[in-house]
Amino acid sequence: MQKVTIVGAGNVGATAAQRLVEKNLCDVVLLDIVEGLPQGKALDIAHSAHVLGVTSRITGTNDYADTAGSDIVIITSGAARKPGMTRDQLTGINVNIVSQVVAGAAQASPSAVILMVTNPVDAMTWLAIKKSGFEPHRVIGLSGVLDSSRLAYLISRELKVPVTDVTTWVLGEHGQEMVVIPRLNSVRGVPITKMLPDNVIATLVERTVGSGAEVVSFLKTGSAYYAPSAAVIRMAEAVLKDSHEILPCAAYIDGQYGLKDVCLGVPVRLGRQGIEGIIELDLTPAELKRMAKSARAVKQLIKQASAG
Ligand code: LAC
Repeated sequence: MQKVTIVGAGNVGATAAQRLVEKNLCDVVLLDIVEGLPQGKALDIAHSAHVLGVTSRITGTNDYADTAGSDIVIITSGAARKPGMTRDQLTGINVNIVSQVVAGAAQASPSAVILMVTNPVDAMTWLAIKKSGFEPHRVIGLSGVLDSSRLAYLISRELKVPVTDVTTWVLGEHGQEMVVIPRLNSVRGVPITKMLPDNVIATLVERTVGSGAEVVSFLKTGSAYYAPSAAVIRMAEAVLKDSHEILPCAAYIDGQYGLKDVCLGVPVRLGRQGIEGIIELDLTPAELKRMAKSARAVKQLIKQASAG
């Protein structure tokens, strides 16, 4: 059995643990600094295995020694947004948490693939590469799988088509500088630009960028976790199954799209080794400018994260 550690037993971490156990693909370790929290949630999930007919084992712990030899480490620890906050405002508080978690997890599992969920995720992915000392292809951020799923939901509602027929690509920062290139999004291969007027597409894009905040404004006490956990487990599954799927993720960029030394959402091929390659789409000069603007926003946060 492969082994996946999930750090952070809050809403995203615990829901991700539940989803993963239900897939019956690997053993799961749930770690948190709060005593009893990961143990209690893991035991509750373990009690569901018989009902569900799965043999995956799950344990909860406060000790990194129990995470040793993990194939994947999913990092969800950190503060979440409150209503009115941007993801960027979490940088200060989450830098220290992510630095400590990455150091502990990387030492226990030196061959793991790290999947970063903590926000602001692009900057935290960059930080995790530095703190772990891992090759950049083994550190991947959750962004586009989630944002693309939200855009697909909105397109499916607008066009009254099954959400499963929609293909979406949300690139760039997982934040205000998200990059949606309308012509790359389609329903069974038909670009949405053929089916929807520009102003409607603009509204859907705007709502996608604000989707996380929309959920926060309803919940008031926390941020989204059903879709984020589904998205990160989709990425984990691609790694565990060595599926070579192409998914939009936050990756370390070294020359692609004319950018350097930044983590940003781009299409990547995922497999057992992590990122097997970054796909460079043919973008127009205007589209490349959007990517560059998005990269500049992330670099600002990286600067803040490095100083912290
Ligand atoms: C969201 C958080 C995970 O988009 O950033 O809901």
